[in-house]
Amino acid sequence: MFKKLTITALTALTLGAGGALAAGGSGHVTDYKFSFEGPFGRYDQAQLQRGLQVYTELCSACHGLELVAFRTLADPGGPSLSPDAMREYAATFEVFDAELEDWRPAGPTDHFPESMDPNAPDLSLMAKARAGFHGPNGTGLNQLFKGMGGAEYIASYLTGFTDDVKEEAGSFFYYNHVFPTNWVQMAPVLYGDDVTYADGTEATMQQEAKDVAAFLMWAAEPGMMARKQAGFVSVMFLTVLTVLLYLTNKRLWAPYKPKKQV
Ligand code: HEC
Repeated sequence: MFKKLTITALTALTLGAGGALAAGGSGHVTDYKFSFEGPFGRYDQAQLQRGLQVYTELCSACHGLELVAFRTLADPGGPSLSPDAMREYAATFEVFDAELEDWRPAGPTDHFPESMDPNAPDLSLMAKARAGFHGPNGTGLNQLFKGMGGAEYIASYLTGFTDDVKEEAGSFFYYNHVFPTNWVQMAPVLYGDDVTYADGTEATMQQEAKDVAAFLMWAAEPGMMARKQAGFVSVMFLTVLTVLLYLTNKRLWAPYKPKKQV
């Protein structure tokens, strides 16, 4: 009894610590449904393309994505731009070429630039660095059922501003009910109709927030679909192996086991 209790307490503690380690979220994070959730979840290509558009038009002025290479935009499972569209997109950015000692248009192997605003964090891994769900009571058990909630945190954060602003030591802080300390140095960016989606989707504030959050999830974990597939195949394989081993074991020991007395 005691042992069982200790183990439960330890598990809760470990999970809680894991939840606490990933910063973010103070309980107001909305549990948005994303296509990539669950064991068979897949990225929605159209959504990733819309998210890329939101990032490009509204976030890239401040935030970098320096771990993401332009060529990955054409990879299957991602936004899957055509190779030509990907090259064209890359060329809209400039990189400093050490060999040429000059700036040149970016190519497929170059990465997105780093953040333009020194205060703005790079967003490459943001969706994995934030957790949306911590409860109940800080144990982090919710993460077992809802996932880490990185994308949910970002979408809720982007829609979590009120109109309150304060000035402190010459800097402006904006009220956000999702940001852990509530006062954030980033001004609200999304209001709805901030972009005109190429695919005709209505650009509500929530839609834009969810799309860019999905895109950032892909940026942070482009191999998620492959990982889930490999996981599923492994579990199937292990299940079959277990059955075979059980039967083999039975067969091997059969001669040595006394027959049941009738
Ligand atoms: C005008 C510059 C600017 C723009 C445009 C901007 N941001 Fe930010 N962003 C910032 C700054 C500065 C911070 C750091 C705020 C802080 O830590 O107080 C930040 C922080 C963040 C964070 C981290 C919040 C956290 O939990 O630490 C996320 C996520 C984010 N921005 C996403 C976005 C997205 C997505 C867009 C585009 C829709 C965007 N930002 C547009 C300047 C900007």
